[in-house]
Amino acid sequence: MTETKKSKLRSRAWFGPTDRGGFIHRSWMKNQGHPDHMFDGRPVIGICNTWSELTPCNAHFRQIAEHVKRGVYEAGGFPLEFPVMSLGETLLRPTAMLFRNLASMDVEESIRGNPIDGVVLLVGCDKTTPACLMGAASCDLPTLTISGGPMLNGKFRGEDIGSGTNVWKFSEEVRSGEMPLCDFLEAEGCMSRSAGHCMTMGTASTMASVVESLGMGMPQNAAIPAVDSRRYALAHMAGRRIVEMVDEDLRMSKILTRQAFENAIRVVGAIGGSTNAVIHLLALAGRLGVDLKLEDWDALGRDVPCLVNLMPSGKYLMEDLYYAGGLPAVINELGDLIHRDALTVNGKTIGENTAGAPCYNREVIKTMEEPFAPQGGIAVLKGNLCPNGAVIKPSAASPHLMKHCGRAVVFEDIEDFHARIDSTDLDIDENCVMVLKNCGPRGYPGMPEVGNMPLPPKILKKGITDMLRISDGRMSGTAYGTVVLHVTPESAAGGPLALVENGDMIELDVEARRLHLDVTDEELSRRRAKWQPPQSPYTRGYYKLYIENVMGADRGADLEFLVGNSSTDVTRDSH
Ligand code: FES
Repeated sequence: MTETKKSKLRSRAWFGPTDRGGFIHRSWMKNQGHPDHMFDGRPVIGICNTWSELTPCNAHFRQIAEHVKRGVYEAGGFPLEFPVMSLGETLLRPTAMLFRNLASMDVEESIRGNPIDGVVLLVGCDKTTPACLMGAASCDLPTLTISGGPMLNGKFRGEDIGSGTNVWKFSEEVRSGEMPLCDFLEAEGCMSRSAGHCMTMGTASTMASVVESLGMGMPQNAAIPAVDSRRYALAHMAGRRIVEMVDEDLRMSKILTRQAFENAIRVVGAIGGSTNAVIHLLALAGRLGVDLKLEDWDALGRDVPCLVNLMPSGKYLMEDLYYAGGLPAVINELGDLIHRDALTVNGKTIGENTAGAPCYNREVIKTMEEPFAPQGGIAVLKGNLCPNGAVIKPSAASPHLMKHCGRAVVFEDIEDFHARIDSTDLDIDENCVMVLKNCGPRGYPGMPEVGNMPLPPKILKKGITDMLRISDGRMSGTAYGTVVLHVTPESAAGGPLALVENGDMIELDVEARRLHLDVTDEELSRRRAKWQPPQSPYTRGYYKLYIENVMGADRGADLEFLVGNSSTDVTRDSH
């Protein structure tokens, strides 16, 4: 890096001056043993770490950070690791999604307020990826993302089992009496047997693939298992590369163009990715001013076949995807569906990164000619039940339910659902449509992953494993079924979902992208006149801020005032 470029680094505003302020900024840092030459104008690389022992998927991130530091030092940078709020999917109540926007604010202000020239984001568990990307995008420094990598394949009694997917399957088997409880409990340790995030194509793997296909991560970022030494080599090389990115002033906004988002949407289709990616990418685009709409998901994903045979839609797991060639092989297979000249963090285009990428196992990565499923993309539904849209993942749905008309069985909220679902008195059969209200961003609050409601035991006992389900909530990326999600406007905001009553007929036609409540406009007006919004028990703190400012799922469920980005300048420094 030239002396002129060094003098323009934003970290120089802290470490450059020889006055009292400069003394304070350097002196306190030196208590960690950093020698003088670390303050000589070399780029400061912030390593934004979502490590936490309460986020088991990210619990190995201190080691990854150490390898990033090796690379940064090697390239002449000064690495400084800092923590941000970590969002563990399995423990955090009421739902990690409630705090995605809060964590993004933490990331944004931690970057902006500190002497950082370039950022490496360490992300893994579902919401940590969008939270970090969104926060960093609102600062727009040179930024590189490293995913923590998936766990090794689960192994249970000689079979591969997948995070989440097998939990749903086994718990239904326990409820129907097929699986003894002792077997169920034994499977716990067999499923999660190494560091890393869920190894199905759930939300974490989807978002790691999004990172790679957006160009925000190094090639093979998505699939290298967390414990594979090549994950650490990738971190080392990423550390070297971020120093060059600062030199090149390669900011996030230069990579995250409309083309990059279109690439990511198509890759989500090709991997049979999680519906959660819809919300996260809409929110991220909003931070960057990229014009991306919910409808784009349908238009761009409609022709994309699902190429990977991974759970929850298929058979294999992320470890298998890596050995089969990883995401570069998938992107290469997509051919002209990808904007190949989109720039990536390693300074090459995505086309250059993936050209000729080999596939070593056609069982895992299929071809465009013989795909795993003809429709990989996410279908966006419209109709009088969801005027602003709803989504369904066709590759995880049952073909016989893709066009269906049934009688609504309504649950007013998740507590109502839990109270009644196991009752033998519940008036329901397999042709009914299960409707769950008040699980949207504002209503729950936080839009939890409850859309894949477990079926009633009396239906399961008939050997039936899928029914049409509709809600304003989300679904875990590891889940499956004919599940309509993200109904917008949500019921707590007075959307038509709030007006559905037991016995109403609901029509779904995925091919026509239609979701219709078969009730007259007059009757709906009558019901609306009587409708009262649910009273929120949350009167203070972040919950209140969130409920009052959260936008609908069709806008990415971001907080209204977080849309866009701000300068990295902080002019005042008076302590
Ligand atoms: Fe963390 Fe699935 S629970 S990635």
